[in-house]
Amino acid sequence: MFPHRPRRLRQSAPMRNLVAQNRLAPADLILPVFVKEGAALPIDISSMPGVQQHSMDSLKAAAHDAVAAGVGGIMLFGVPETLDAQGSAGVDPNGILNVAIREVVAEVGNDMVVMADTCLDEFTDHGHCGVLDDAGNVDNDATNEIYANMALAQAEAGVHVVSPSGMMDGQVGVIRDALDDAGYTNTTILAYSAKYASAFYGPFREAVDSALTGDRKTYQMDSANRTEAILETELDIQEGADMVMVKPAMSYLDILRDVANMSPVPVAAYQISGEYAMIEAAAANGWIERVPAMLESLTAIRRAGAQNILTYYATEAARLLA
Ligand code: PBG
Repeated sequence: MFPHRPRRLRQSAPMRNLVAQNRLAPADLILPVFVKEGAALPIDISSMPGVQQHSMDSLKAAAHDAVAAGVGGIMLFGVPETLDAQGSAGVDPNGILNVAIREVVAEVGNDMVVMADTCLDEFTDHGHCGVLDDAGNVDNDATNEIYANMALAQAEAGVHVVSPSGMMDGQVGVIRDALDDAGYTNTTILAYSAKYASAFYGPFREAVDSALTGDRKTYQMDSANRTEAILETELDIQEGADMVMVKPAMSYLDILRDVANMSPVPVAAYQISGEYAMIEAAAANGWIERVPAMLESLTAIRRAGAQNILTYYATEAARLLA
């Protein structure tokens, strides 16, 4: 009567598992972590239940836990004690992020890929991702010069992957040139290529004690735009990006699919702080089931085309998937 009964393939868990078209693996996941200068103990981030600003010791423990769970990579963010207009602590070899890179590479550098955010917003007193000109606008080319020095400092500290996330035009090319000129030809670039100005970054501001007032709309992409993501990705690949990223993930799954369809290099997506916070808040209220919602969200990001997923759930999800 019905030659095709799609329900036949849904009748049991083994059957569903057999025909599942997308799978998550621990090695695909990347854990973003925050390390706070001067913190003796980890500090809870109230808008991201379960996520902390790490002390150096708890950071190392988190890195070991991630390795034990099979997580493929770790993305480091620094929370410095001192901020200035130039974001100097990001370039300083003794700045918190560069110190953390050295420590984490020494601890787990043979077992997972160590990445660092290459951006100034955690380090500037005005909270922007770049330096400001006299009119108070983010100065693209002056910022790129600092990014080059920041990437060099990170490479010098031993990071495997630098991750420019500031959305300055030409940032990938400037960083690639600087790394190559200094002999860091193996330092890899994961470019935040299609990064949108998003209200869902809210909790991240607490996570990094951000000083930003206002928004990032003159450098991050407008959520109304689609083809611009292709242009941004093409430019980054031409400039030398080894991997590209779409961010945020869940409100941008169409963009992720577009980029996955055109990109010859691996594509990552970042399930950001606000996406995590929404799942946690709803689950805490008993409105959704936490673990199924977590795994469904990650599967959706994979299905939309992400090879790698940055997620605050990385270690927990990896354990569930093992
Ligand atoms: C910039 C950066 C941000 C995030 C990652 N890198 C903040 C921003 O662009 O406003 C957000 C990550 C998240 O929200 O989880 N250094």
